[in-house]
Amino acid sequence: MLKIEGLNVFYGAIQALSNVSLTVNQGEVVSIIGSNGAGKSTLLRSISGLVRPRSGCLEFEGTDLIGVSADKIVRMGISQSPEGRRIFTNMSVLENLQLGACTRKDDEIKADMDKFMDRFPRVRERLHQNSGTMSGGEQQMLAICRALMARPRLLLLDEPSMGLAPNLVTEIFSVVKDLHAEGVTILLVEQNAHRALEVADRAYVLETGKIVLEGAGKDLLHDPKVKEAYLGG
Ligand SMILES: Nc1ncnc2c1ncn2[C@@H]1O[C@H](COP(=O)(O)OP(=O)(O)OP(=O)(O)O)[C@@H](O)[C@H]1O
Ligand SMILES: [Mg+2]
Repeated sequence: MLKIEGLNVFYGAIQALSNVSLTVNQGEVVSIIGSNGAGKSTLLRSISGLVRPRSGCLEFEGTDLIGVSADKIVRMGISQSPEGRRIFTNMSVLENLQLGACTRKDDEIKADMDKFMDRFPRVRERLHQNSGTMSGGEQQMLAICRALMARPRLLLLDEPSMGLAPNLVTEIFSVVKDLHAEGVTILLVEQNAHRALEVADRAYVLETGKIVLEGAGKDLLHDPKVKEAYLGG
């Protein structure tokens, strides 16, 4: 579904991604783990068309994504829940959800909204509240719902569990599992390596812009190098 080959991304003189190659097959959950500054967000932002790579190949369902505008990429079936949530804090929860669906023309928008609010009842309770007044965890749930409102075939999640209480982290990962079961393809970036590997069909380890390890999520969970560097020994 997604094919990335030899991707190089720079911010000025800083090289954030170096010769990154990876694939995501339809229906998979693929996790990327890595430390601060490894280039995880840069990778997702490149797929979403928010950062333009200097070189390399980036294809979604056989179509070249490089140079395609971010809104077109959403229309092609990719949406992102960005790091730090980035909800529109001057708008209501409902308006944020409606914006998530702004590229759609079908008549199932309301039904989808109901479905996601069943999953996150707190979002329904706060529907007419200014989203900026919600707690961090509530904003994270809204950011995920907003991304889902685009009805993506490929969902990009950037650190969805960041800053959440343990019970909410469990909830977020159980949503990932449910979406997986429904057939949504997910590329997940996480610092919570344990959870990210547990939920993943396959995973990649990114270190200072380079993929250093890849394998089945379950195998990486038991890899000595991964254990030492990312799972607390
Ligand atoms: N807009 C930018 N301008 C300059 N450098 C940037 C910019 N965005 C990111 N970088 C640099 O690129 C590198 C990769 O950053 P990126 O945000 O992709 O890392 P990350 O793996 O998502 O880290 P974190 O886990 O902290 O979110 C870092 O060294 C960062 O300082
Ligand atoms: Mg990041």
